[in-house]
Amino acid sequence: MQSLSNKKILLGITGGIAAYKSAELVRLLIKSGAEVRVVMTPSAQEFVQPLTYQALSGHRVYTDLFDGEADSAMDHIELARWCDLLLVAPASADFLGKMTAGYADNLLLTLCLASKQPVAVAPAMNQQMFANASTRDNINQLSSRQVLVWGPADGEQACGDIGPGRMLEPEQLLNNIAQQFRPGKLTGVKLLLTVGPTREAIDPVRYISNRSSGKMGYALAEAALREAAEVTLVSGPVSLIPPSAARLVAVESAQQMYDAVMQQVGTQDLFIACAAVSDYRVDQTAQHKLKKSADTMSLQLVPNADILTAVSALEERPFCVGFAAETRDLEKYAMQKLEKKKLDMIAANKVGDGSSGFETDFNQLEVFWRDGHHSIERASKPEIAKQLIDLIAGRYTCARS
Ligand code: CTP
Repeated sequence: MQSLSNKKILLGITGGIAAYKSAELVRLLIKSGAEVRVVMTPSAQEFVQPLTYQALSGHRVYTDLFDGEADSAMDHIELARWCDLLLVAPASADFLGKMTAGYADNLLLTLCLASKQPVAVAPAMNQQMFANASTRDNINQLSSRQVLVWGPADGEQACGDIGPGRMLEPEQLLNNIAQQFRPGKLTGVKLLLTVGPTREAIDPVRYISNRSSGKMGYALAEAALREAAEVTLVSGPVSLIPPSAARLVAVESAQQMYDAVMQQVGTQDLFIACAAVSDYRVDQTAQHKLKKSADTMSLQLVPNADILTAVSALEERPFCVGFAAETRDLEKYAMQKLEKKKLDMIAANKVGDGSSGFETDFNQLEVFWRDGHHSIERASKPEIAKQLIDLIAGRYTCARS
């Protein structure tokens, strides 16, 4: 059984048949030592009586935004401040839609808006409603705003359908809650991360760049934040929403990325160079748009500084992790880069065949360090990021101890 002693959990219940399962969740939470307060929406009360949760949690159940009898020390703002985690389980499609739009017309929605603590939702609905584009959009948006989305599970539904939409089982939800409170593997570690492509201007409207989407770097930032690192992202131009808990320094060219990194690096413990930095820039950027004037055209390119090499050459240097994007001879080139750039670790990935790496949602890594190697099998970038951050945290802790 997980220990959640002294943890304060605010459990929000919305209208859905899975509301009865939340009674078991309250029981498990209390058994694991948590303090639980329950908030129900009006439609949740159509499924289960507040008295059920009151008996299990040992506290009155909050149901009304304008409750004349409410304990004045526990109005909605106080409740939002009181908890360590707010979990809405089950979270109906209707509730998720209103939450995404920022509605606050019932107590639970108000709490979701007012809470500075982590908010998690456990969606539960008919599989067709879950598959609907508006539900998917809502869930994606909530997730990009750091709302934790737990589930749903796949299986038989109360309506007889089969598919994804079942609320996660109470044991699984308890487990996820406990994960939130375990100490992070990078607690107190300052991580500087370069991500995305760079753009090297040719003239005011044209540039040289590459196919990096930034997805791997942003997934690494998210994974490191989950391990409680303090993350600074130096990001080239990408169309992704940065995690709000990270400090973002937006740059465009390799030179700007270099300057930003050098400005930050003095205080950092860990440096991950995930950016696809342009190796060359145009020698003379034209002041005005170049005109079509000849059959052929040449651009004179000059090398950019290697940011990773510059960081690893510092006397007081952070633990340095590089990437190697290669189209062939992965291990050979990765090991050469590990040596040449004096790195602690290098993560090599194959690019250019369209199945993983640049511009895709998947990746696959071969990670090398001086006396070791680990393969991370093909998976989604968030999953790869989690495994890589685990590996880096382990090597970093070894190196510093
Ligand atoms: N890198 C960097 N600054 C550069 C070029 C690369 O910090 N100007 C970093 C990348 O972020 C990556 C690693 O160096 O972590 C390797 O980058 P990669 O493009 O694979 O290799 P290069 O060193 O540029 O060599 P090549 O292009 O010849 O493979």
